[in-house]
Amino acid sequence: MTTTKFRREFDVVGDDFAGAGRVSTEIKALLKRVGYAEQTIRRVAIAVFEAEMNVVMYARRARITLDMDPEGVRILVDDVGPGIPDIEVAMQEGYSTATDRMRQMGFGAGMGLPNIRRNADEFAIESEVNSGTRVRFVVHAR
Ligand SMILES: Nc1ncnc2c1ncn2[C@@H]1O[C@H](COP(=O)(O)OP(=O)(O)OP(=O)(O)O)[C@@H](O)[C@H]1O
Ligand SMILES: [Mg+2]
Repeated sequence: MTTTKFRREFDVVGDDFAGAGRVSTEIKALLKRVGYAEQTIRRVAIAVFEAEMNVVMYARRARITLDMDPEGVRILVDDVGPGIPDIEVAMQEGYSTATDRMRQMGFGAGMGLPNIRRNADEFAIESEVNSGTRVRFVVHAR
């Protein structure tokens, strides 16, 4: 582990399916360079990918903030978008409002948010309709 503590920020643009996955790929490479365990990197990459896809699919744009230290990785995904009217429903496995076009691209299983929670040691989501959504999670280093 070469680091003490640092932060990186990334932007994600809504509806940018061509660029989707770029941030999670970049973060994966960064964590590898820093020297986190494979398992830690994998969990962060999966969770970031799901959060990034949700921004591409549903929001207008987002800022992803990554905080790293030897204890682990903390992520904030703060978007500007429609928000989520019922978070409890949205968190259910299989619930999805994905369009036919998104489903044709292989998305819309309704597993993204549950997958983020499953891969994280700490997870929180808050949302305001017509404003945006904040997803935060922490993956402890091992
Ligand atoms: N950032 C967001 N802004 C607005 N709505 C969202 C956001 N993230 C998720 N949602 C809503 O919550 C639902 C469930 O999200 P989840 O990621 O679990 O599944 P999905 O994106 O529909 O499918 P999958 O992730 O399996 O491709 C979405 O269909 C959408 O209605
Ligand atoms: Mg999703």
